[in-house]
Amino acid sequence: MKVTVIGSGYVGLVTATCLAEYGNDVLCLDVDVSKIELLNQGGVPIYEPGLEEMIKRNRAASRLRFTSNIAESVAHGTIQFIAVGTPPNEDGSADLQYVVAAANHIGRHMNTYKVIVNKSTVPVGTGDKVRAVIAAQLTLRGLNASFAVVANPEFLKEGAAIDDFMRPDRIVMGCEDETASDLLHALYAPFVRNHDRILLMDIRSAEMTKYAANAMLATRISLMNELANLAEILGADIELVRKGIGADPRIGYHFLYAGVGYGGSCFPKDVQALQRTANENGIQLRVLAAVEHANLAQKSVIIHKIKQRFAGNLAGMHFALWGLAFKPNTDDMRDAPSRVLIEYLLAQGATIAAYDPVAMIEAQRVMPHATGLRYGEGPQAVLKQADALVVMTEWKAFRSPDFAEMKALLSQAIIFDGRNLYEPQYLAKQGFEYYPIGREQIYPALIARALMTEPSEQALNLA
Ligand code: NAI
Repeated sequence: MKVTVIGSGYVGLVTATCLAEYGNDVLCLDVDVSKIELLNQGGVPIYEPGLEEMIKRNRAASRLRFTSNIAESVAHGTIQFIAVGTPPNEDGSADLQYVVAAANHIGRHMNTYKVIVNKSTVPVGTGDKVRAVIAAQLTLRGLNASFAVVANPEFLKEGAAIDDFMRPDRIVMGCEDETASDLLHALYAPFVRNHDRILLMDIRSAEMTKYAANAMLATRISLMNELANLAEILGADIELVRKGIGADPRIGYHFLYAGVGYGGSCFPKDVQALQRTANENGIQLRVLAAVEHANLAQKSVIIHKIKQRFAGNLAGMHFALWGLAFKPNTDDMRDAPSRVLIEYLLAQGATIAAYDPVAMIEAQRVMPHATGLRYGEGPQAVLKQADALVVMTEWKAFRSPDFAEMKALLSQAIIFDGRNLYEPQYLAKQGFEYYPIGREQIYPALIARALMTEPSEQALNLA
């Protein structure tokens, strides 16, 4: 099948490459010419496990091509996926300018029947907007070409995106046109061969499903984080509590880890956008407002611990940092909790030596002026003479380090662990002062005090 994918970011590239893998003829468009040049030279602008090899294979077979020529891209695919960004506006609502621009491109250039499939995360009603934009362009051109608009939100997880796309839990398809539905069922058939995982519904329900899913997941994380903070004060262990509640099938074990707060390109903006949609419709989503507030606070919990431990005076101190990306197996730095920590430590006059297996180039790009932040070649290399290690991302490579070597390299054997990678008792035996999240505290009084104050970005002068 001939398919066009508009937008060559995380979602667009993965979608295009996985569709090409099953033999489709895919043309991927981006308005960012430098991105297209890089892709045409065999480079890949993002890190996603397995993606580079898959792109290479499909380019070599001429099933996957990249272009910045809009007319060519519209002419190519009967199916046109829109996978452009929907960043937040200042008021938290989703900025639809890129989606609208893509719809305008299609309307200006299409001459035959097209199925426009929206993969971007968009507020309910965007399907109608896209349809109106395309119809207006066709009217201007005096053309009567027919088209269908479909809402097909994407649920892939960065870091496991290819697997998620190739073996989806479900494919949500908001489609009210029979021809479009038949085409998309045929396109997705190889991905759902053993189980029928296509959930056909109306466009509005499909659009809402994506926001509802992210709202539910963000809520789970924020609740676990708040329970962890309480566990610390009560002398309970959130890891044991997690196992205790996860055993209940109504709760389950997945996505139940306490940490430094959620980040990334989706949860923060989608939680905000859904609240905004609710407000515009005269409804308050009180739970989500609390989720957002709790997450903001959680990003500063580890900062409070550091501040308390060193009596508030961090000037001239030096920290080692493991993990920059908002989660493992990605180089995505959008809204990464590590950025809040880095900004704070540098503002206090501390210096940082950071290591991340893949996100260091991206970190440099998004924080070009972070004087006092340098990057190291490996996890051990950044420990040298640091006053403490702070762990911000749960990369596998950090899970079983050589603690004796670490102790020798650090100038003080102190670890602030925002991801609960180690066992507190074991670390104590190794001679470390260890500060995890919501677990047994070697210095309970210190942590309890840290959490008494309202942790907020304002309180930390980070705003
Ligand atoms: P991204 O920012 O990585 O990529 C978007 C790309 O679209 C950019 O390369 C940009 O240059 C390009 N673009 C913008 N306007 C264009 C136009 N008119 N024509 C052609 N290209 C254009 O964004 P990402 O992360 O891929 O997200 C895309 C959408 O998918 C967003 O709505 C996001 O919320 C959603 N989503 C993202 C997931 C993720 O894990 N990143 C997961 C599920 C959904």
